[in-house]
Amino acid sequence: MQLLDGKFASEQIKNQIAEEAASFLKDSGRKPHLVAILVGNDGGSETYVASKMKNCEKVGFKSSLIRYDVDVTEEALLEQIRKINLDADVDGLIVQLPLPKHIDPEKVTETIDYRKDVDGFHPVNLGRMMRNLPCFIPATPYGILLMLQAYNIDTTGKHCVVVGRSNIVGSPMSILMARNANPGNCTVTLTHSRTKDLKAIVLQADIIVAAIGQKNFVTADMVKPGAIIIDVGINRESSTTTKSGYKLYGDVDFENVAEKASWITPVPGGVGLMTIVGLLKNTLASARKEIY
Ligand code: GUN
Repeated sequence: MQLLDGKFASEQIKNQIAEEAASFLKDSGRKPHLVAILVGNDGGSETYVASKMKNCEKVGFKSSLIRYDVDVTEEALLEQIRKINLDADVDGLIVQLPLPKHIDPEKVTETIDYRKDVDGFHPVNLGRMMRNLPCFIPATPYGILLMLQAYNIDTTGKHCVVVGRSNIVGSPMSILMARNANPGNCTVTLTHSRTKDLKAIVLQADIIVAAIGQKNFVTADMVKPGAIIIDVGINRESSTTTKSGYKLYGDVDFENVAEKASWITPVPGGVGLMTIVGLLKNTLASARKEIY
């Protein structure tokens, strides 16, 4: 088994982004600028947003965090988004999900100007992705493609089984792995909680993308020897033995599956770090007006 090391791959790409951000600053007199909106104080969201902001600083981007209490009205949030849409100093805008129940995530996503939608969640970006047009690719699927690229993994002709059909990961990942590109050129099966005989299907996979959000969902008996395992899960459980008070688990039973896999991503230290790289690359592309 060989490790798909998110730390190694992300540091390499971030060094490159930092160089490009420096030349952007030299040419334009400004830094690429990402704004994140965080509503409430969900523990996971706090951690992710803090990490996004920290990584912006690391590569020489400007970052701004706008926080709201959990009871902010939908209209107040939409108004803030409309204001940022018009701000020429902002290249990328993300609203961290999940949102409280009284706020419609679809309205929020569609209010963000698709030209600043560096999360790649807006219907214009998803539609353009479907048609293989320049667009912002959702950050996690983009990060996974960058990881496969960093390790020179040829995916052409392989059977990729995606487990989980979320808007953020599973659905876009299935489209991207089937595209006429490398990484891509896969035969893709998109599976989910209602799939029958899931184990038999996953056993056929040359590449497994696990994005179902359940600790240890993919077990060794579901994995063909030599398979490539991409674990997107970030399942938090409280723990008395760690400083942070919690421990992270993937969707894959790493210890046992690793023995069968050719390549595998760890959790933490795998896909999570690459998601941030995807976000940074989209923000830089927006600043340089490479897409819109
Ligand atoms: N929540 C979980 N993943 C993501 C992500 O990639 N972007 C945003 N905005 N929220 C998330």
